[in-house]
Amino acid sequence: MSERLNTFSLGKVDGGEQVEVGIKLINPWSAFILEELLKKIHPRITIYDGYHLSKKAYSGKVALSSLKKSSRNKIIEIGGKKYQIKGCAGQGGFAQVFKAYVDSNPDDAVALKIQRPAFPWEFYMYRQLDERISGKQRSSFGFAHKIHIYSDCSILICDYLAHGTLQDAINSYVVTGKFMEEVLCIYYTTEMLYMLETLHSVGIIHGDFKPDNLLIRYSKDDLSEEGFKDRTDSWLDQGLYLVDWGRGIDLQLFPKNTEFTGDCRTSGFCCIEMQEKKPWTFQADTYGLCVAVHMMLHNTYMEVERKTSDGGYIYLPKSSFKRYWNVELWKALFTKLLNVKPGNNDIELLRSLRKSFLDYMHDNPLLIKKLKGLLVKQRGTLCSA
Ligand SMILES: Nc1ncnc2c1ncn2[C@@H]1O[C@H](COP(=O)(O)OP(=O)(O)OP(=O)(O)O)[C@@H](O)[C@H]1O
Ligand SMILES: [Mg+2]
Repeated sequence: MSERLNTFSLGKVDGGEQVEVGIKLINPWSAFILEELLKKIHPRITIYDGYHLSKKAYSGKVALSSLKKSSRNKIIEIGGKKYQIKGCAGQGGFAQVFKAYVDSNPDDAVALKIQRPAFPWEFYMYRQLDERISGKQRSSFGFAHKIHIYSDCSILICDYLAHGTLQDAINSYVVTGKFMEEVLCIYYTTEMLYMLETLHSVGIIHGDFKPDNLLIRYSKDDLSEEGFKDRTDSWLDQGLYLVDWGRGIDLQLFPKNTEFTGDCRTSGFCCIEMQEKKPWTFQADTYGLCVAVHMMLHNTYMEVERKTSDGGYIYLPKSSFKRYWNVELWKALFTKLLNVKPGNNDIELLRSLRKSFLDYMHDNPLLIKKLKGLLVKQRGTLCSA
């Protein structure tokens, strides 16, 4: 009940008009708000391509609840199509993700995300990405073909990527006691900065930005050193790919200038504002980016501390930078992203940070050559599943 008193009418969305009533602080992940949002998007989601609703429980011959990590080659039927299970890609609290071949065709691999109870929100977010992000930039984000919603569960069918996650790449260093080479950290950092710049500029917050939701993409063709600068040629298919949109926030559904409350409940990834019970917006993602960068550089989660600066204080990671790193670049990244002031332009900030890393790379052609070599090597070691 107190939730209801603290929230406000989300207003109309169809004409883009927003009716603002009361306070502008909302927990976008509370059960009540989610229910309100689902009601609001209902007329739109039902007409999206790939939306399939059934009032009945899933009734295929193979019970979905019987699918385990070892369910290789079982065939399940969804919406009249057959999917051959090839393995389990992930298992969370509410969802299981399987790799499957459509009609047993190895050239047509998909990820099946089975969720209980049914959860249409993620599919809505995927369609927002389709509507708002086009061309080159769209390839950095997951793609959903369809969703089948039943009374007991939902099955989201997405493109499958076979090379694991950024978390797997980091773990491959952790197990050998080594660290990711700095140039590779720089490359993935620019990719993440670009992703968030793209997303935030179209009014989307991912809300669960972390290394195990960032899949690794490799180009089929050889990487050319020339294409790196403009992110063209084979570099376009190379980099990262963001999945898991269940906590995505569509800012267009809220009145202008809304700020959020509530924490992400993913230990290690709650931004400083969430930890201090202060309002937040884009920090939910930019903090996740800082943690991911910290994990690449140090192999550990990030711990922050307050350090005095100019009579006040700023937040910085506790771990210190290695002397031979480009300390200035990393310091600027953490200082700026961990200390966002009201009125700061998030998109400009992400763009200028990305530019600082890219300028550094462009000034050192040998580094691009080194990066190319490291990516080829990484592709060989990160197993394809
Ligand atoms: N399209 C995909 N291709 C390959 N692997 C995927 C794909 N989608 C997800 N995975 C793998 O499955 C794991 C779990 O998927 P996802 O993050 O979507 O679900 P989750 O974390 O269990 O969901 P939630 O956080 O909503 O409970 C990912 O970390 C990744 O390893
Ligand atoms: Mg996930």
